[in-house]
Amino acid sequence: MDLFEHQAKELFAEYGVPVPTGKVAHTPQEARAIAAELFAVGSSKVVVKAQVKTGGRGKAGGVKLADSADEAEQLATQILGMDIKGHTVHKVLVEEGSAIAQEYYFSFLLDRANRTFLSICSVEGGVEIEEVPHDRLAMVPVSPLEGIDRAKAREIAEQGRLPQEALDGAAELIERLWAVFTDEDASLVEVNPMILTADGQVKALDGKVSLDDNASFRQDDHEKLEDKAAADPLEAAAKAKDLNYVKLDGSVGIIGNGAGLVMSTLDVVAYAGEGMKGAGEVGGGQKPANFLDIGGGASAEVMANGLEIVLSDADVKSVFVNVFGGITACDAVANGIVSAYKLLADRGEAVDRPLVVRLDGNNAELGRKILTDAALPGVQQVDTMDDAAKRAAELAAAGA
Ligand SMILES: Nc1ncnc2c1ncn2[C@@H]1O[C@H](COP(=O)(O)OP(=O)(O)OP(=O)(O)O)[C@@H](O)[C@H]1O
Ligand SMILES: [Mg+2]
Repeated sequence: MDLFEHQAKELFAEYGVPVPTGKVAHTPQEARAIAAELFAVGSSKVVVKAQVKTGGRGKAGGVKLADSADEAEQLATQILGMDIKGHTVHKVLVEEGSAIAQEYYFSFLLDRANRTFLSICSVEGGVEIEEVPHDRLAMVPVSPLEGIDRAKAREIAEQGRLPQEALDGAAELIERLWAVFTDEDASLVEVNPMILTADGQVKALDGKVSLDDNASFRQDDHEKLEDKAAADPLEAAAKAKDLNYVKLDGSVGIIGNGAGLVMSTLDVVAYAGEGMKGAGEVGGGQKPANFLDIGGGASAEVMANGLEIVLSDADVKSVFVNVFGGITACDAVANGIVSAYKLLADRGEAVDRPLVVRLDGNNAELGRKILTDAALPGVQQVDTMDDAAKRAAELAAAGA
C-alpha cells in the first residue's frame, strides 16, 4: 500500500523526523482556514499541495505557494478536482512554506536483486532521481542485521556529497527514517526533497512511503491508512473474504487453484480471444475479467465465495473454472462446485451465467463424473485448457 504525502509526513512526525507544519483540506474554505492559522503563527508563505498517489505533482501544477489565506483558497480551488496522470485530486495539504537553501534526495528501499536494503542519497534533490548523474548519487547497501546508527547515517550523507553544514541534521533524519522503514515494515521510504533551510535545519519536505501488505498481520495501525474510496469495490469485497482477486476489464470470469495456473489461464483466455478475433470467429476479442486464485483448499465455501465475487462483476458473461487436482483432488473440487451452486441459490444469488469447467490431475475422472451426474444448469465440461478457454470466450461473446 502506498501512502499519500500527508500520511507519510504524519508517520515521519511520529518518529521525530522534522516536517513542515500542515493539515489536509478537502475544500477551498478548509484550505483558507488552515492557511490563516499558519500565517497567524508566523509563516511567511504557505504551500498548497495536491494529494495524489503519483509523482510529478509539481510539474503538473499541483504544488503552489501562497502569500495570503485568500490566495491559498484560490489555489486550492484550482488544484482540487485537477487530474494528475489519471488521478483526481480530492484533497490538498496546506503547510508552512520553508525557506529552502538546498534540496537533496534520500531513500531507503528493498534491493531485491542483491537481497538487501539500499539507501540512496544525493546532494541533487527536488528533481526526478532518474535524472541525477550516477556520480552524484550514493547507493549504499544496508544490512538488515546491522541496520543504521548515527555514524552509518552520516557516512551515507557524506557519500551523497551533502555539504558539511547539513551532515549532522541529515544523519539524524536518516537514522529516524530507518526506524520508520523497519518498524513500519515499509518497502520504500523516499524523501525528495530533503532540504537544508536558510537557518540550517534539515527537514523532510516531501514523503513517499510504501508499506508491505504482507506485514499487515503485525501492523494493526495500517488498516486506517487505506484509501477506501479509491479501492475497487469488488476487490475490497474479495479482500474481506480473504480471496486473492484482481479485477481486470474483460468478460470471461476466471477461477483457478494456484497462482501459476491462474496466470497461465489468463494468458490462454487472452490468446484464445485474440486468435478468434483474427479468424473472425465468435468469441473474438473476449478477455479475462479477473484474476482469482482460490488456493489449494478449494472448499465449497471458498468456491461459493469466489463464484459470488466473479459473478457480481456485471461485465462477466461466462466463467472458466480451471482446476488441476493435487492434494485437494478433483472430486473434492467438483463437490465444492456442486455445493457452491446450492449455497449461492440459498443466498438468492443463483448462478445465472455459463460455467466452463476443466478438471485435470488427481482424481479428474471422478470429479468429471460428479459434475456430469449433478447436471448443474449452465455447466459445461471441456477436457483441455485451450479448448475450455475457447469455449468460455465463445460463451462470453454470445452472452454479451
Ligand atoms: N513546504 C514547502 N515549502 C517550500 N517549498 C516547498 C514546500 N513543499 C514543496 N516545496 C517545493 O515544491 C517542490 C515540489 O514539491 P514536492 O517534492 O512535494 O512535489 P513533487 O516532487 O512535484 O511531487 P512528487 O514528489 O510527487 O513528484 C519541492 O522541490 C520544493 O521546491
Ligand atoms: Mg517530490
